Amino acid sequence: MKLGQRLTQLNDMIPTGYTHIWDCCCDHGLLGAALLSRQAAPTIHFVDIVPSLMQQLEDKLQRFYPRQFIPQWHVHCIDVAQIPLSDYPETPLPETPLVVIAGVGGDLMIELVNSICRNNPELQIDFMLCPVHHQYELRQQLIKLECRLIDEKLLEENRRFYEILYVSRNKVDSAIATPLATSPISPVGGKMWQCSSEAQRDIAQRYLNKVLTHYQKISLSNPQKAAQALQDYQTIFL
Ligand SMILES: C[S@@+](CC[C@H](N)C(=O)[O-])C[C@H]1O[C@@H](n2cnc3c(N)ncnc32)[C@H](O)[C@@H]1O
Repeated sequence: MKLGQRLTQLNDMIPTGYTHIWDCCCDHGLLGAALLSRQAAPTIHFVDIVPSLMQQLEDKLQRFYPRQFIPQWHVHCIDVAQIPLSDYPETPLPETPLVVIAGVGGDLMIELVNSICRNNPELQIDFMLCPVHHQYELRQQLIKLECRLIDEKLLEENRRFYEILYVSRNKVDSAIATPLATSPISPVGGKMWQCSSEAQRDIAQRYLNKVLTHYQKISLSNPQKAAQALQDYQTIFL
């Protein structure tokens, strides 16, 4: 099946070089299947909590990507909070897995990222995150977890705006860490506001207006809650 704009952008941002990529909250597994097709990593993991979905996905993968097929794939019907990252230490060096979580609310995403980091205190983990709502709160949490930014993008699909955050939680010796350049995570985004076309500028302007209106509304009933976010977003000039 064809990927929409959001999943296409996610797929485009995932580099080759990881040994394990985890397509979490994968639903029908569209993104993971695209990763398999372009052999983005030797092993692609599909994770979702709904058994019927995972059974259907397993049947489809058996048909289209038989077991002798490289890359390998695994289907995990579990809570993403419990993904067994350290069960796949197939090389002598500690590996950096890429954990992709997209299409779920920012609140749930915060819980999932927290649990994954807590359950794997010694592991460097790269995350590719695309939440629905609560982007500011997710950024706050990533900053608390001492994550660093690799890349970020803003896009619009079906009149909804999405931020994609590609970040690294680095807990290992930097000599063996993923050799990707990182920078501090901004609470409101940095690079994603730099527009290279009029179309991109239009998306950024409408997204900024929407976020400012959202926090202005919240500040009417709960000024304390919205004050910092409003102040931060008001520093953005397009
Ligand atoms: C809207 S789909 C997202 C599909 C795809 N990732 C995307 O971005 O289009 C959300 C999926 O998250 C799954 N999900 C929600 N909470 C989960 C959890 N804690 N662990 C595993 N899967 C979960 C749901 O079962 C559902 O299939």
